Amino acid sequence: MDSRILVCLLLISSQILGILALTDSNDLAALNAIKSSWSNLPPNWKGSDPCGSSWGGINCTDSRVTSIMLAGIGVEGSEFSDISSLSELQLLDLSNNIGLKGILPSSIGKLKKLSTLILVGCSFYGPIPDAIGSLDQLVFLSLNNNSLSGPIPSSIGNLTRLSWLDLSYNKLSDTIPVASATASGLDMLSNARHFHLSNNLLSGSIPDQLFSSNMKLIHTIFDHNQLSGNIPSTLGSVKTLEIIRLDWNFFDGSVPPNLSNLTNMNELYLSNNKFTGNMPNLTGMNFLHYVDLSNNSFDASGVPQWITSLQSLTTLMMENTQLQGQIPVDFFRLPQLETVVLSNNNVSGVLNIGNSYRNNLTLDLRNNSITDFMQKTDYNMELTLVNNPICNTKGATSKYCTVEKHHNTVFPSNNCMATSCSRDKVLSPNCGCSHPYTGTLHFFSFSFSDLQNLTYVTTLNGALMSVFLSNGLPVDSVVSANPTVDIYNYLQFSLQIFPSGQDSFNQTSISTIGFLLNRQPFQLQYYGPFFFIDEPYCCFAGSKKSSNAGIIIGVAVGCSVLVLLIIFAGIYAFFQYRKAKRASERNDPFASWDSKKGSGSVPQLQGAKGFSFEDLRKCTDNFSESKCIGSGGYGKVYKGAISSGQLVAIKRAQQGSMQGASEFKTEIELMSRIHHKNVVSLVGFCYDQGEQMLVYEYISNGTLRDSLSGKIGFRLDWNRRLKIALDAARGLSYLHELANPPIIHRDIKSNNILLDDHFNAKVADFGLSKLMGDTGKGYVTTQVKGTLGYMDPEYYMTQQLTEKSDVYSFGVVMLELITAKAPIEHGKHIVRAVQEAMGDPIGSENLDKILDPAMGLGSEVGGLKKFVNLAMSCVGESAADRPTMGEVVREIENILDSAPANKKMDTKFSRSSYEEANDESPLHSHDTEVFDVSYGSFPFHVEHQYAN
Ligand SMILES: *[C@@H]1O[C@H](CO)[C@@H](O)[C@H](O)[C@H]1NC(C)=O
Ligand SMILES: *[C@@H]1O[C@H](CO)[C@@H](O)[C@H](O)[C@H]1NC(C)=O
Ligand SMILES: *[C@@H]1O[C@H](CO)[C@@H](O)[C@H](O)[C@H]1NC(C)=O
Ligand SMILES: *[C@@H]1O[C@H](CO)[C@@H](O)[C@H](O)[C@H]1NC(C)=O
Ligand SMILES: *[C@@H]1O[C@H](CO)[C@@H](O)[C@H](O)[C@H]1NC(C)=O
Repeated sequence: MDSRILVCLLLISSQILGILALTDSNDLAALNAIKSSWSNLPPNWKGSDPCGSSWGGINCTDSRVTSIMLAGIGVEGSEFSDISSLSELQLLDLSNNIGLKGILPSSIGKLKKLSTLILVGCSFYGPIPDAIGSLDQLVFLSLNNNSLSGPIPSSIGNLTRLSWLDLSYNKLSDTIPVASATASGLDMLSNARHFHLSNNLLSGSIPDQLFSSNMKLIHTIFDHNQLSGNIPSTLGSVKTLEIIRLDWNFFDGSVPPNLSNLTNMNELYLSNNKFTGNMPNLTGMNFLHYVDLSNNSFDASGVPQWITSLQSLTTLMMENTQLQGQIPVDFFRLPQLETVVLSNNNVSGVLNIGNSYRNNLTLDLRNNSITDFMQKTDYNMELTLVNNPICNTKGATSKYCTVEKHHNTVFPSNNCMATSCSRDKVLSPNCGCSHPYTGTLHFFSFSFSDLQNLTYVTTLNGALMSVFLSNGLPVDSVVSANPTVDIYNYLQFSLQIFPSGQDSFNQTSISTIGFLLNRQPFQLQYYGPFFFIDEPYCCFAGSKKSSNAGIIIGVAVGCSVLVLLIIFAGIYAFFQYRKAKRASERNDPFASWDSKKGSGSVPQLQGAKGFSFEDLRKCTDNFSESKCIGSGGYGKVYKGAISSGQLVAIKRAQQGSMQGASEFKTEIELMSRIHHKNVVSLVGFCYDQGEQMLVYEYISNGTLRDSLSGKIGFRLDWNRRLKIALDAARGLSYLHELANPPIIHRDIKSNNILLDDHFNAKVADFGLSKLMGDTGKGYVTTQVKGTLGYMDPEYYMTQQLTEKSDVYSFGVVMLELITAKAPIEHGKHIVRAVQEAMGDPIGSENLDKILDPAMGLGSEVGGLKKFVNLAMSCVGESAADRPTMGEVVREIENILDSAPANKKMDTKFSRSSYEEANDESPLHSHDTEVFDVSYGSFPFHVEHQYAN
């Protein structure tokens, strides 16, 4: 028999078997619809029997699909409603697929059997549908780390089985819903253990009704919202509570005294609110490990006695809480104590640390009134007494009068013979080379503070390892490292998970690991709840295509039955495609723009034009790496030439950083109105095929930071730096004072100041800009955004954004200009570094030490002192005392006018000073060749570096 006929018969019989397949036909149709609208699904999603042939990530019970676990495998798609017809689905985990986006459809309410829904770290936006309240089997709901907006639907209160509710890291606004005569509310969730609502825009007060004694809550995590009013005393009746985070809100009034009835508390964060009245009395909270009461307006009081009764305490944060008087000796006797921060208070007298404190105690008493201290000498501790009277008397204690020392955690290194692995593989602790799955664990809370203590790290590694192994995963080893406490006071660990028995994990293993980490069916000693955000996995095992596929398809083409099937599949796929397309058009208000009709929804642009995806794809060689000139959290920037020949920089938002359509529209409307020679102008935008791109004029000489770091091959002299400062100040003052409405940039930094080929500076990147609307208040209240090191501390504390926050950031840039230092280097902020160099009170004796040698100047040079003073006034602590950008412009103009070097550039002087600089600085020890180049009216010097 002809072998082709045999293959044909086999194929036909498999089709017949398909009819007898296990999988329910409804579920098959739903999975096929998903398959045609999503990409990067597991490679074995083939054939017509998902249950029988075990499609990756799918589990069935009898013939019905009951679970879908596709975490972390790079699934992309925007059509979610096909899932809604899987009516027996119990578990859905799609977390860590940043390419999954769109609005959650109301049809999600049809998943009546769903008990676990995990969508952590995707790109869903828009409101949470009210229909979520009809998933009445739901026990576990994690929608954190998306861009969901609007209020928390009150219907969530219908989910009486719900145990875990995590909506953190979204843009949810409005008040926390409680039940009324007409609606449900979160107070009805009597089985809930976890309320994680942090990092949203929730506002209003917490209703008394939200908490009651019949609740079972263990975690109430509401930090970093805009909640206000009193803490309801009902919170004190939820006896089960172990962790409370209410920090970084606007709560006021006094802390209810019955909070101390919560005797199971482990971690309590009330910091950065506006609490008044008595310092809370925490006597009786005998399991308390971590307490943070910092930055509140409590009545002045002595150091509370109750602290000595908290035998489990590891960490006490009471910065700026109006403490006064002497610290009792027995205060330091607590056996677990690791960190005590009492800075910015009025603690006075002799500090007697006694002789039974724990080794390695960290004690920060900056800015107090301590006059002397006593210590047991053979104990190791880290004490800071900067800005206490004791530091004014020169003596033995002076080592405590300098700013903190930073030591890095030393992690146990492995003892492997091999020291390196080929290509992109990584050495595991067990000395194998493989591709680890990596990401970051973010802990909402934790019971310790000594990040140097390896016990905490090894416990975490061991616990995770045993979770993976007991779930049958092929894991060789786990490394969690680099513990850091982020600006939200969350603890982060970078995590590497190494595969065993193979080079890399397959999709199923990755999804199971992701599921275990975000579902957390386990508890970790020392650690509170967490979430896991991964990095896309490089290299799934076994996803190569079968090499015989071509032959079989060739035979099948000769087989008429299959031809029919293929035609049928084609028609089906076409309808799926149309359906998907229609769905994406529905989500895209821009798709209906028709500039000829001048319809109302078209953005009002001045000069900027719309580009199609195709236009921009062409001019960047299909977004090729060679055209990529930068990248950041938002995505990548490509260089290209548009049809007019103009060079442009195209900023392409990556999936996770897309804005909502109306936000995007607002932003391009705003930017198209900005026209100033010191502000980068918008050429156009693209809102097409699910992409958001902004097209800017191309600025050829890169960022100021690149120039200052010497990275791009030339250095800037003092005069050029002054001119750059002036340009940037002018651009910024235009935004503040002349743009209508005024604009606060919010992210001024040397990376956002670009230099053109004449070295004119332009302010770029309005990604975080805020309009000063008609609030009449002169400030906008916002979630704190910006870049560490440049952020105005006052804005950070009050969340009230004014133009003066930009002035602060600009002051930091000015200091960068003269020192070429990054804003934070070796754990020290540039403002402090300059302050220290100048000595206190301000002088310029030691300024030379920190000036950038490449500038070719000493501190005696004209204008430098004025420039530094101006910078220091910009970074003044109180916003009110900082100059406006207009004033900054005028002052720099004055400095530039009177700078002698400006009147006559002496090229010889400049050249020799570069050479001196090169001799002195090991950083600049490349072979260098110095040119003098003149552009326009500004002579300056370009130095090309030839890196080896
Ligand atoms: C999926 O099915 C397999 C085999 O029946 C079972 O061992 C596994 O626990 C199931 N997984 C889930 C998440 O239900
Ligand atoms: C939630 O419960 C309320 C009151 O029982 C009911 O009116 C409402 O329709 C329910 N909502 C959903 C989405 O099921
Ligand atoms: C809770 O605290 C209040 C005030 O501190 C006290 O009056 C009350 O008896 C306490 N309740 C319980 C059940 O301990
Ligand atoms: C704190 O509360 C405990 C127990 O309720 C009480 O004995 C103690 O006197 C209180 N301390 C202060 C300073 O009020
Ligand atoms: C204190 O630190 C030293 C190293 O600096 C370390 O060897 C020791 O174990 C630490 N002690 C405690 C109690 O953490």
